[in-house]
Amino acid sequence: MNNLMMVAAMSAMLSQALPALADDLEAAKQKAEQVCAACHGAEGNKPLTPETPKLAGQHGDYLEHALLEYQSGARQNPLMSGVVQPLSKREIRALAQYFAQRPGLGTRY
Ligand code: HEC
Repeated sequence: MNNLMMVAAMSAMLSQALPALADDLEAAKQKAEQVCAACHGAEGNKPLTPETPKLAGQHGDYLEHALLEYQSGARQNPLMSGVVQPLSKREIRALAQYFAQRPGLGTRY
């Protein structure tokens, strides 16, 4: 395969993958507004109680890991355990990405 064909094949693959990702993020945004915002606040940035963490701007990997742990029971919290039960792994990944991309916590060096 020459380089041009390789580029064409790669961009065809990308153009199929990107809309799917955008759809996932859009669905995550809606779920975040309908479900998560009740406790974590708008964009995961205004928690309603002191024991509810800010999600905005945390690392996506960390958020995904935390959600999977609530789902498996490795991390226990009566509120979060109920919230994550109906979520698929794909929804969890998209929610983690959505909150990681919100402006929020940040470290300044
Ligand atoms: C009923 C209130 C409530 C709702 C609704 C809720 N959360 Fe939470 N969430 C909490 C509380 C309280 C904690 C802290 C629990 C703990 O100490 O482990 C938490 C913790 C988390 C954490 C761990 C964050 C960290 O810094 O370790 C994540 C990730 C998270 N929630 C994501 C979500 C997502 C995504 C949704 C929506 C699908 C959601 N939550 C909906 C109350 C809620």
